[in-house]
Amino acid sequence: MTSPQWLDSWSADDGAARVRTLFTEAFGDDGAPDGVWSAPGRVNLIGEHTDYNAGLALPVALPHRTYVALRSRTDGLVRLASAQAPDERWETALDEVTPGVTHGWGAYVAGVAWALRAAGHEVSGFDAVVDSCVPFGAGLSSSAALECAVAVALDAVHSLGLAADDAGRAELVTACVRAENEIAGAPTGGMDQAASLRCSAGHALLLDCRPGLTALESAERVPFDLAAAGLTLLVVDTRAEHALVDGQYAQRRAACEQAADILGVASLREIAPDELDVALDKLGGTEDAEVLRRRVRHVVTEIARTAEFANLVRAGRATEVGPLMNASHASLRDDYEVSAHELDLVVEAALGAGALGARMTGGGFGGSAIALVRAADVDGVTAAVQTAFDEAGLAAPGFLLAPPSDPAR
Ligand code: GLA
Repeated sequence: MTSPQWLDSWSADDGAARVRTLFTEAFGDDGAPDGVWSAPGRVNLIGEHTDYNAGLALPVALPHRTYVALRSRTDGLVRLASAQAPDERWETALDEVTPGVTHGWGAYVAGVAWALRAAGHEVSGFDAVVDSCVPFGAGLSSSAALECAVAVALDAVHSLGLAADDAGRAELVTACVRAENEIAGAPTGGMDQAASLRCSAGHALLLDCRPGLTALESAERVPFDLAAAGLTLLVVDTRAEHALVDGQYAQRRAACEQAADILGVASLREIAPDELDVALDKLGGTEDAEVLRRRVRHVVTEIARTAEFANLVRAGRATEVGPLMNASHASLRDDYEVSAHELDLVVEAALGAGALGARMTGGGFGGSAIALVRAADVDGVTAAVQTAFDEAGLAAPGFLLAPPSDPAR
């Protein structure tokens, strides 16, 4: 068996040292950065493809973070360098950042400044460098980690005061989501940015994505002390290709909107589980309707599973959530059709080796899966997944541990 590849997180000091060094190399001629900020990637415990349906999601922040060293400028220029793209210096004038026009990885960064300005905040240009231990393209929200690190950096250098409390952080979430939707052009739903900015160590974040809620109403921090329960959250990066800017994610979102239209509701959140059968009948029996029926069934049942999962965790019964995770995976695989062979393989191998529950996490079509594992079984589950990939002739997956960690700071 190939030995498992562990993708370790960096210490805060290590992350800060990396971007300070990179800043000196890239922009050091003009002095030191104003400071260093960082934001985590996330895994979602349950509540998948529910955020853009005004539903519930339950993410935790990863210990893996994106680090940004930033210095503001007075001339309106944005200049960026990244350890992940060393040969690709990115530059624009902030005034020229425009939906549909600004492209490349810098869109995720400059887009945040654009969105903060659009919300009425005074934000100038800046020099920034980026380095990250959030695996890229793994469905662990490396793009949200980048946006959110930049958001807290700009908040600090312009003394906006938004990162100081949860209501302000919710405003930063809105700016990051606008950056991603409108400037970077990925039609995502907002869970990732909320996780990165509003999670709390030792807790899962129960997000209620109905529009118009106050910050207080939209998020609850549910204590999720895995270690005390003798549990480990294992993340497997399948390294199967995953991209949200492609058409599949947008198609799922459009299907949900179409179904809501036919059903005469503002969002699928409005359909209670006991109204599901009536709603499915109403969608009709044609082949096209059959696809919509499956999409709706996933969303409505997934929201219910998320509420149930949170109830179990609140009641100190975290060891009982496994069947909900498994049902979520089956629903995403069969009804929502966003899983991938590699994700199904992780789930099957992990459960076979004694995981309490396992499922794909994030948008799907590749990316990562999670397994909730008794601490004593981590090695066995890891080995089983590794062996399954070896036997299937797949490239080695990456393994991460995910104790619920700190938000952007
Ligand atoms: C991606 C998106 C999120 C969410 C998930 C699926 O991570 O960025 O907004 O829709 O997929 O739950």
